[in-house]
Amino acid sequence: MAALLEVTGLTTKVSGFTILNGLDLSVEEHELRVLLGPNGAGKTTLIAMITGQFKASSGTIRFAGQDITGWAPDAIFQTGISRKFQVPNMYETLSVFDNVMVSLRGRRRVFATLFQVLRAAERDRIWDILEFVGLADKANDPADTLSHGERQWLELGMLIASDPKLLLLDEPTTGMTESDKHRTAELIQEIAKSHTVLLVEHDMHIVRQIGKRITVLHQGQRLAEGPLAEVMSNDLVRQVYLGKGKFQ
Ligand SMILES: Nc1ncnc2c1ncn2[C@@H]1O[C@H](COP(=O)(O)OP(=O)(O)OP(=O)(O)O)[C@@H](O)[C@H]1O
Ligand SMILES: [Mg+2]
Repeated sequence: MAALLEVTGLTTKVSGFTILNGLDLSVEEHELRVLLGPNGAGKTTLIAMITGQFKASSGTIRFAGQDITGWAPDAIFQTGISRKFQVPNMYETLSVFDNVMVSLRGRRRVFATLFQVLRAAERDRIWDILEFVGLADKANDPADTLSHGERQWLELGMLIASDPKLLLLDEPTTGMTESDKHRTAELIQEIAKSHTVLLVEHDMHIVRQIGKRITVLHQGQRLAEGPLAEVMSNDLVRQVYLGKGKFQ
């Protein structure tokens, strides 16, 4: 069976500078793949290309059997790819509940959405999601009153509500306390039981907690791939991380 996401020979050049350099990556359905790599390796660029925010100079991106290379971000979102940004993307003055509702209904006409009658099935689904991300007791609070960690969890809830096939998570634990990070890693593992996830994560405690298949990017190329222990003992990977304090 073909992989859910298949990136082949992806190259991106910006102002003559090569950011991704013939990158190959394939992710199977229901996989939780961790993407590692030093600063500037091209991880965020890869995510921006999968979601159509950046265009490839050459190479292809296939998703769920379709060639989505060069498609507009909206069209790519419609195929079932959702991205979590480092800074949560939500409606600050709306309640936690309403933010999830807007995502459930497809974000397009936010205000029309807010005044539509809520069906029982929708209400149940929103409560399930709020329970899942641990925010049910804050359902009526405006989003801008949440803590940093809670905001990240609300955004994860909003992503789940949009029911994507593939979730792209770019450093979702940045700036969190250790216990919030741990909780986030647990949530991601739960999410991965029913979704395919590509996770960019720098924090090695989290990577160890998740402990799945790892792809290491370096200078826009795939440097190594495999189970965590194998990747961590790879000489090339160790050289790239040497002195950066990341692989302790
Ligand atoms: N719009 C742009 N114009 C020029 N160069 C860019 C642009 N966006 C990114 N770059 C460069 O591309 C390279 C890869 O950046 P990218 O943000 O993808 O790395 P990253 O692996 O996500 O790094 P980090 O771990 O710091 O988040 C870097 O050298 C960066 O300076
Ligand atoms: Mg990045």
